[in-house]
Amino acid sequence: MRILVLNGPNLNRLGTREPGIYGALSEQDILERLKAEAPEVEWRHVQSQHEGVLIEALHEAADTGTHVIFNPAGYTHTSVSLRDAVALTVEAGSLVVEVHLSNPAARESFRHTSLISAVASGTIAGFGAGSYSAALHVIRSAQ
Ligand code: DQA
Repeated sequence: MRILVLNGPNLNRLGTREPGIYGALSEQDILERLKAEAPEVEWRHVQSQHEGVLIEALHEAADTGTHVIFNPAGYTHTSVSLRDAVALTVEAGSLVVEVHLSNPAARESFRHTSLISAVASGTIAGFGAGSYSAALHVIRSAQ
């Protein structure tokens, strides 16, 4: 089984970026934790500040039957194009689990709307790095 961890803008700064909100773990720490939890998975990882790179990564996941743990970060609240890419990836048969470290529903009102949630396979938010582990768990359970 292949799983892509797809992280949107600013998530390469985890560990030092607002640790009171996003936690002390770096992006690398989260990836290593996932790999330790599921060494049998063929892991892929893409992080980008650019919407188009994230869209292309979703297209590739759709074409290769790769499941996706996706934190769209700030694009969650703004990107119709990413929503469309998630929809076509799910339609192709991949699970796309939207994850957030924080709980956007408990934060500023502009974070309360996710354009992604309605088309993702499901959403897990508010558990820090545990959101990623929970996404791994649901993808594994679905196999
Ligand atoms: C985030 C929540 C978003 O609102 C924010 O823009 C992020 C990170 C999270 O993981 O909690 O960059 O997706």
